[in-house]
Amino acid sequence: MCGIVGILGSEPVAERLLDGLKRLEYRGYDSAGICTIHDDQFDRRRAPGKLKNLAQRLSENPLPGLAGIAHTRWATHGAPTEDNAHPHIVGEVVIVHNGIIENFKPLRDALIAEGREFYSQTDTEVVAHLIAREIESGAEPRAALAAVLPKLHGAFALGVMVRTHPDLLLGARLGAPLTVGYGEGENYLGSDALALAPLTQRIAYLEEGDWVAITRESVEVYDRENNLVERPIVNSGASGQLIDKGNHRHFMQKEIYEQPVVVAQTLRSYLRPLESRVALPDMDFDLSSVERVVIVACGTASYVGMIGKYWVEQLARVPVEVDVASEFRYRDPVLLPNTLGIVISQSGETADTLAALRHMRSAGVVTAGIINVPTSSMAREVDLLLPTHAGPEIGVASTKAFTCQLAVMAALATNLARAKGRLEGEADVVRQLQQVPEAMSQALSHDAEIEAMAPKIAVARDVLYLGRGPEYPLALEGALKLKEISYIHAEGYASGEMKHGPIALIDDQVPLIVIAPSGPLFDKTVSNMQEAQARGAQVVLISDAEGIAQAGENAIATIEMPTVHSLIAPLVYAVPVQLLAYHVAVAKGTDVDQPRNLAKSVTVE
Ligand code: M6R
Repeated sequence: MCGIVGILGSEPVAERLLDGLKRLEYRGYDSAGICTIHDDQFDRRRAPGKLKNLAQRLSENPLPGLAGIAHTRWATHGAPTEDNAHPHIVGEVVIVHNGIIENFKPLRDALIAEGREFYSQTDTEVVAHLIAREIESGAEPRAALAAVLPKLHGAFALGVMVRTHPDLLLGARLGAPLTVGYGEGENYLGSDALALAPLTQRIAYLEEGDWVAITRESVEVYDRENNLVERPIVNSGASGQLIDKGNHRHFMQKEIYEQPVVVAQTLRSYLRPLESRVALPDMDFDLSSVERVVIVACGTASYVGMIGKYWVEQLARVPVEVDVASEFRYRDPVLLPNTLGIVISQSGETADTLAALRHMRSAGVVTAGIINVPTSSMAREVDLLLPTHAGPEIGVASTKAFTCQLAVMAALATNLARAKGRLEGEADVVRQLQQVPEAMSQALSHDAEIEAMAPKIAVARDVLYLGRGPEYPLALEGALKLKEISYIHAEGYASGEMKHGPIALIDDQVPLIVIAPSGPLFDKTVSNMQEAQARGAQVVLISDAEGIAQAGENAIATIEMPTVHSLIAPLVYAVPVQLLAYHVAVAKGTDVDQPRNLAKSVTVE
């Protein structure tokens, strides 16, 4: 979602701010802007659309100044126009903001009643007015910010400068991440360490409710009670190089291809082949006391949770509930003793999942997090961090994070099963998991076939995906992947549900993607597939040699996967599902890595 960069520099900042924004592009945005202070005046450039528009404005009309703030905006209140783009200037105050001010309407109404004029439709401008009003009544900038923060409800990260104090950069966070970067004679503010990586590796992560006053020589962090506090400075380890696409056309394609390596990397930290054991990091609770599991996540990560439910229930015989995070806390869930709460998140910042995590913790539930960004809010708040090692995922459509999350989920299910005294053949589980990278490479070798069939799918208006057992959530994932990057309407169904309604959608214009590894459920899925074929469905069958030999005859296309154990099938079958969505999107000419309306890290509810 939105991105913030701020620099109090010893050299001009505009180009460096733009570079920082480029590094935040992956989060998704629809307008951008930069404001500097120069000769005691604000100077600002903003542009709707991609950063190249802002870069163009900067090259036509450069921005001088040694201090400035910059922003990529993902529109929430008001269209992505230049007027709504950040930074917003009100009087002596300039501000950038990530998140949503939920009580902006009454605040705005009260400010208008006082005679204050608004120039944008954003919730952000309210905050600018509130701080400006404090300053107009004589407060110095730190006090003005501290006075305003308690009035704001919602989630926010803020960057603020005051025209009359060009050597001061203020920031605040609540529910949205914000980091401080420490330089030599310069200091910085950024949404994440990646944005600041070319400037510094020395980073402090602000905690919930913190606000910060930055000068070139000092950084003072205050908690929500305005106590001066210390936040540790850590080495971010983020690369200063812009992550590039290598030989690939898109980040998504690169990330699909990275999977054999990053899944192997992830598995390496959980598998102990010499001891035939699947291990977890040390924890200070007893897995054998877990009597139920609640998994909460959003989007693709929630489908990992659904697959995890099959695994945990089958292997450990522990009941599992899976919830999309946006529903979880508002339905006042019943959280019984001896529940293990699991959150799954690539970014570790998804607002709904973070809120669900906090809800579980406040109810006394022990939590584990399958998380890709180890410095994220969730990673810092869970009782047990189960890291994925997918590396930065830039494409908005999640691919390698998904399969790495599955690898960790398999490790967790195995450990739970052992703790419950139900695990038989752990050596076999280790062997199966070790085969995943090779099987994924084999799956990738079908890329050209999938590319060749993509144009047939690209002309469809609707596409349906079918799967059974753990391949049912994979059908949901396939449909999500296709719709988010190709904009084709797609739905995933449990195969057996077809005739309870969705079969009414079938005609000869509707491709039906059937995900069906051979095994005990295969015949049942094939029956459902044939019922749809009898009504004209254009079937693409994804199966192994045996399955294709048995049922591939009337399909418009088949994609042959290696024959794998049912435990690892979802990881392997994810590859053709991702490739199909990717090639269909390319055939349609959409913006694959930054699809319309989507953000990578969804930090608002
Ligand atoms: O960062 P998270 O894993 O918490 O994100 C959750 C979802 O927003 C994410 O998986 C989303 O559904 C992806 N765009 C799917 O490709």
